[in-house]
Amino acid sequence: MYICICNAIREKDLRRAACEQGGDAESLYAKLGFAPQCRQCLEDAEQIVAEARSCVAA
Ligand code: FES
Repeated sequence: MYICICNAIREKDLRRAACEQGGDAESLYAKLGFAPQCRQCLEDAEQIVAEARSCVAA
């Protein structure tokens, strides 16, 4: 499933990035080589990042 339609970023790729490195969703997008465009996805993306990190910490 895509979390970011504008950049075609998949949820699983964002989760993996969140597990591997720090930063908020926008900085993870940058590390994946993308920049937010419409920004409508960022709230959901932040939630996915937080979930991915809590799983790692558990
Ligand atoms: S859906 Fe992610 S920037 Fe538009």
